[in-house]
Amino acid sequence: MNSALTPIVLIGFMGTGKTTLGQYMAKANNYTYIDLDHYIVEQEQRTIPEIFESDGESVFRQLEAFYLQQCLEQYDIIATGGGIIEGEQSLQLLKQVKYVYWLDCELEVLYERVKSDENRPNANNKTFPELKWLYLSRVSRYNEIAFKKVNSNQKLCDLQSEIIQSLISD
Ligand code: S3P
Repeated sequence: MNSALTPIVLIGFMGTGKTTLGQYMAKANNYTYIDLDHYIVEQEQRTIPEIFESDGESVFRQLEAFYLQQCLEQYDIIATGGGIIEGEQSLQLLKQVKYVYWLDCELEVLYERVKSDENRPNANNKTFPELKWLYLSRVSRYNEIAFKKVNSNQKLCDLQSEIIQSLISD
């Protein structure tokens, strides 16, 4: 770890802005940062849709846990994929991390952001009720591992302040 004492891990449904916030906070605080999805793609030399298509989601979840472990040992701030809590191994790993921040906002906003994204196999071409079902099936697990839930539908600087304040006052 460089500047942060323990990693800050950003979790939350697809489209909540984990990557954008992670990049922003890394730049502002001189933290080392990784987007876990990007890390997986780089290590595997395959896109996420390619992994889903050729090996299936369960293999993707195994890879996610394997690479999450590596990232937790190397980076100050980590943006995870929205389905990280689907994998039991990742869930157990994240239970050992203190500063897990759950980014959340209105599902209507998320749906507009992700519904036509071909790079998101679990969102692409889903109807609103289908996406809502997936979201609702995940909420209790996000909640279970979160140190704090934050509304991500606000300015990046305010979002960052909320997180830094909670770290300082802990
Ligand atoms: C997924 C979310 C994606 C990515 C993969 C699966 C999911 O990450 O890990 O497509 O099941 O919610 P983002 O949350 O960055 O879109």
